[in-house]
Amino acid sequence: MTPPASPAADRATQVLPATSPARIKAAAVAAARLIAEGRLVAFPTETVYGLGADAGNPRAVADVYAAKGRPAFNPLISHVPDLAAAARLGVLNDDATRLAAAFWPGPLTLIVPCRDTDAICDLARAGLATTALRVPDHPAALAFLAAAGRPVVGPSANRSGHVSPTLAAHVLADLSGRIDAVLDAGPTMVGVESTIVDCSGPEPRLLRPGGLTRAAIEQVLGRPLPDATGGDAAKPTAPGRLASHYAPRAAVRLDAEEVRPGEALLTFDGARPPGADAAALVIDLSPAGDLTEAAANLYGALRAIDARGAAGIAVVPLPREGLGEAIADRLGRAAAPRPKDIQS
Ligand code: TXA
Ligand code: MG
Repeated sequence: MTPPASPAADRATQVLPATSPARIKAAAVAAARLIAEGRLVAFPTETVYGLGADAGNPRAVADVYAAKGRPAFNPLISHVPDLAAAARLGVLNDDATRLAAAFWPGPLTLIVPCRDTDAICDLARAGLATTALRVPDHPAALAFLAAAGRPVVGPSANRSGHVSPTLAAHVLADLSGRIDAVLDAGPTMVGVESTIVDCSGPEPRLLRPGGLTRAAIEQVLGRPLPDATGGDAAKPTAPGRLASHYAPRAAVRLDAEEVRPGEALLTFDGARPPGADAAALVIDLSPAGDLTEAAANLYGALRAIDARGAAGIAVVPLPREGLGEAIADRLGRAAAPRPKDIQS
């Protein structure tokens, strides 16, 4: 008989250190064993830490939603160790196969028709006929996924509506006591979530800008990659793309030309607008003006500003090219009006 679901905040959270090649194997095997038992294990990827569970175990997937405090079921990305595993789970058309061959392992998620609806249960897909697949570019994640031998769902390992974690310490700050373990491999490299491309229809569409640039994808496709949403954030095509998301506690003010009293300053490329000297805290995402570095530092900076207790965050105008598209997307959501349930 299945034991009753444990309350969301009643788990002893183990830390599995995976910071050296020697430790990765043991940690990956221990984490995979927990996944097979239906437990929740946060794991590093090159983008952000994910909250892992067996994609074929509806109860474990339900526990993921409970641990995150996610208000509604929302389809999850299934993580696998290689293209062959992905092709067993989903139907990859020619474009999907070319993108996967070019960019996996890497910060790209493909939406494709689901082939194996047992291995990726209805709840993991939120009842959709399609599924999201991704091969992360991280040695600890790949060892863990290979050991698990099954797809592992992985929404970002944060409380719902909060900023995604780029360190195991961020995961613990949000989810300690609510998950069974975290594989700790230090800071993630990319810092923003994967780019999501919908390959379930005749033409690929961009669902979410992310760690892989639109330009890189267009180069492989040999043609432009249009948005799925037509830029309308109120009607997201990726079901989980709420306008307000990725939010720190402090109110976010974009394209700020000055810093107002009580605000922290989030800046770039050495810019110091008027009022910067009196700011509660100044964080330069990349003093050298490098967007890759800025993306890697973004979520840690938002958490640091929250830790300082600033009432607001003034954000200087940032370039929109390359990874600037994903940074602008996340900051835009952080600045959007918030539903009541994610304000506390
Ligand atoms: O970098 C990432 O992608 C991280 C790491 C942990 O892999 N994961 C992540 O997962 O960002 P999550 O759950 O925060 O975002 C998944 C997004 C959601 O917006 C969801 O609506 C969308 O993917 N999605 C999943 N399955 C989908 C489907 N079948 N059709 C359309 N959108 C889908
Ligand atoms: Mg998320």
